[in-house]
Parts: sequence; structure tokens; C-alpha cells
Amino acid sequence: MADKEALPKLREDFKMQNKSVFILGASGETGRVLLKEILRQNLFSKVTLIGRRELTFEEEAYKNVNQAVVDFEKLDEYASAFQGHDVGFCCLGTTRAKAGAEGFVRVDRDYVLKSAELAKAGGCKHFNLLSSKGADKSSSFLYLQVKGEVEAKVEELKFDRLSVFRPGVLLCDRQESRPGEWLARKFFSSLPHSWASGHSVPVVTVVRAMLNNLVSPGSGRMELLENKAILHLGEDSGVPKL
Ligand SMILES: NC(=O)c1ccc[n+]([C@@H]2O[C@H](COP(=O)([O-])OP(=O)(O)OC[C@H]3O[C@@H](n4cnc5c(N)ncnc54)[C@H](OP(=O)(O)O)[C@@H]3O)[C@@H](O)[C@H]2O)c1
Repeated sequence: MADKEALPKLREDFKMQNKSVFILGASGETGRVLLKEILRQNLFSKVTLIGRRELTFEEEAYKNVNQAVVDFEKLDEYASAFQGHDVGFCCLGTTRAKAGAEGFVRVDRDYVLKSAELAKAGGCKHFNLLSSKGADKSSSFLYLQVKGEVEAKVEELKFDRLSVFRPGVLLCDRQESRPGEWLARKFFSSLPHSWASGHSVPVVTVVRAMLNNLVSPGSGRMELLENKAILHLGEDSGVPKL
């Protein structure tokens, strides 16, 4: 990872390359902040959202955003949506409470993996996967096991560059009611920063870390960023606050 002082120049160099990007999950808490920041930093010449429904935006900044509406149950039929993007971000996910165990596996493993496969086949060079702290394919917890499994399977696709982000609890003002997450957020925000920083992170910091990492030279084919690395890379990165 480059020094933070080098980031403004790296950002400018990246913009000059006129790359294209797709985002999966742009309607979610992380995805929508990611989209906003990508547009604000003007990093790509083409931005495409791939999702199950068309999103509406009022602001002028979004007027050139492309959207591909797909049926995730028949993704092979939508391979063209994944073609021709240099970079991909996957912020897709659901919860067991919302979708049941089977539905959770379907979205967080099968949809993610199929999307990654199509992206690779479509020429994507750098895939960014939002995973989770504790991801471990041999975990006895379904959530962590699925996250670990999908990380391993996406790694097998051998993207030129794969960046996996493993944040702890995402700190955000979620509109949807998720009592467990809400309690965790309250708990972490009441703790000393030094302790909470190992286990939670604001969504905006995750997004900044993703984009700072994006413009920096890669360190090997696969990069694994744990919560502390995300905090380090995403905080105080010389970009004006959102
Ligand atoms: N929340 C946390 O504290 C936490 C911590 C660590 C890691 N993570 C992981 O980070 C990722 C992003 O989390 P988030 O909280 O930003 O996500 P989120 O707000 O729940 O958004 C999830 C996104 O996935 C899409 N999605 C969900 N179910 C779908 C389905 N059946 N078919 C198609 N699209 C579907 C949603 O689209 P719609 O708007 O159309 O539903 C939305 O764009 C997830 O993988 C999550 O597991 C979360």
C-alpha cells in the first residue's frame, strides 16, 4: 500500500486511465456510499450498476450512471451486463433473518460467485469483494463459513487483482430495522476507540479504504484487508469528508 501522501497523485493517475467499473449492491448501505464516492472522486469514465431493480436518482451527478437490471436466478442469461468492465465491486448480501438460511446462501455465495465468474469471463481485471471479519470456510457459523467459502472460490478464478475486505460491524444509519446489528452498533459506539476499532468500522471508512486501495499499486494477486487495515487505509485519507 502506497503512503497516504502519494494518494492524490495516484488518484489523478488512475483517472487518466479512463477505466470502467460495475457495482453490485449499489442500493445497499455500503454500495450506495461507494457509488456516491466514486462519482464524487470522478474515478471512472463509465459506471454501471448491476442489480435486481432499477434505482432512481435525483442528483445531477448520477445522470451518466448506467444500469443493468438482471435476474440473479438466471445470471447466465445476463452475461453481457458483466462484459467490458475493468473493475468490479461486489457489495451484495442479505441476512439469514431476512432471507432464511437457504436464501442467505443463495445470495451471499451463489449470486456473488456467479457474478464473479461472469465478470472474469467479461474481462474484469480487478475484483473487489466485500466480505466480513471472521470469514472462514471451516467455521461452524453459517455466516462466516459462507463468507470464507465465497472468498476461496472467487480467489480460484484468478483475477489479475482480487481485493477482499473484511470489516467488522458496519457503522451506519440503516433505515431497515435489524435489531441485532443495531444493538452491536450501540455497543461498539460506547466502547473506547482502541477496542472498538478491532471490531467495527464506519461504512464511509470502508468505502474510502476500497477506493484508496483501488488507486494504489496492488500487492500480489490477492489482498486481504482486515478491519484494522481498513480503518488505517480509509481514515484521514486526504479526501474531503462526505
Ligand atoms: N452489516 C454489517 O455489519 C456487515 C459487517 C461485515 C460485512 N458485511 C457484509 O457487507 C456486505 C454489504 O453489507 P450492507 O449492509 O452494505 O448490505 P445491505 O445494505 O443489506 O445491501 C445489500 C445489497 O444486496 C442486494 N440484495 C440483497 N438480496 C438480494 C437478492 N435476493 N437479489 C439481488 N440483490 C440482493 C440489495 O439489493 P436490494 O436493495 O434490491 O434489496 C442491496 O443492494 C454484505 O455482504 C454483508 O454480509 C456486513
